[in-house]
Amino acid sequence: MPEIQRPVVRPRRLRATPTLRRLVAETSVEARQLVLPVFVREGIDAPVPISSMPGVVQHSRDSLKAAVAQAAELGIGGVMLFGVPTSKDAAGSGAIDPDGILNVAIADCVAEVGDALPIMADLCLDEFTDHGHCGVLDARGRVDNDATLAVYAEMARAQAAAGVTIVGPSGMMDGQVGVIRAALDAASHEDVAILAYSAKYASAFYGPFREAVDSSLHGDRRTNQQDPASALEAVREPLLDVEQGADMVMVKPGLPYLDVLRQVRDAVDVPVAAYNISGEYSMVEAAAERGWIDREAAILESLTAFRRAGADIVLTYWAIEAAQLLAR
Ligand code: PBG
Repeated sequence: MPEIQRPVVRPRRLRATPTLRRLVAETSVEARQLVLPVFVREGIDAPVPISSMPGVVQHSRDSLKAAVAQAAELGIGGVMLFGVPTSKDAAGSGAIDPDGILNVAIADCVAEVGDALPIMADLCLDEFTDHGHCGVLDARGRVDNDATLAVYAEMARAQAAAGVTIVGPSGMMDGQVGVIRAALDAASHEDVAILAYSAKYASAFYGPFREAVDSSLHGDRRTNQQDPASALEAVREPLLDVEQGADMVMVKPGLPYLDVLRQVRDAVDVPVAAYNISGEYSMVEAAAERGWIDREAAILESLTAFRRAGADIVLTYWAIEAAQLLAR
């Protein structure tokens, strides 16, 4: 019997040329999967740069309309609006005021682009409260879960009345999705969808965002947001949210939590979004500014990593630029 020579396994064969690599690539990033988070600030008539997030601005109502029109033009998946009000109070009442900045901005965007782009809005009180917490506080200064739910219900109705396509509850109150779904349905807004921030961690990587929304938070959000040391609750909460009527769920932050993203993707049967948050953005921008990293390559690699880990949708401050890079 002649001796049979076992062939050398050569994985490099399929990496030899760009077209071979393209042929076998398992994931891709498309503009339609990207959602642009945008900040709109009350009482300004020109955009204000956010120093902790180079390239990102707080929009005026007019510059927001232009940004949203551009997003629609480029075919990105949607925009997620955050409001920055001029005055805040303990109850976060600007959030439920039909003339509050977030609600008027929703209406502006809908008037500008109609059905050409889903308009999403952050549904949380932290931008509107003078103490900076995501809900209202009880007599001892703790976030009062159930009193907050009542405000979220009103906030959802106000956003729906302004024409929002999708609400994004991000405060991590227990039971928020069910209460918001019921409030929307009772007000005949059955068509408004819910993208639930279901696995949201108490993260240091939100730092630059706090400047973006002029946050007044002292302390932290560790009683409502999840513990970075754990993943079980990050699978459990999306399941609870889907049961309560979430149409999509989100994992946040993104890059340090790709393991969680994969577990959530495998556990639920609705679209899963991941948020490529402010700190992840600013780290790349800062390194690129110093010439320490290839900025465009790092952006595309980051977005590809989200897709590989199972994200159907990625919220990213690079959405516009990435769409332009992908079209090249
Ligand atoms: C809460 C909210 C936060 C972010 C999005 N929604 C801040 C927080 O929970 O502290 C952070 C987004 C980012 O860092 O890019 N409304």
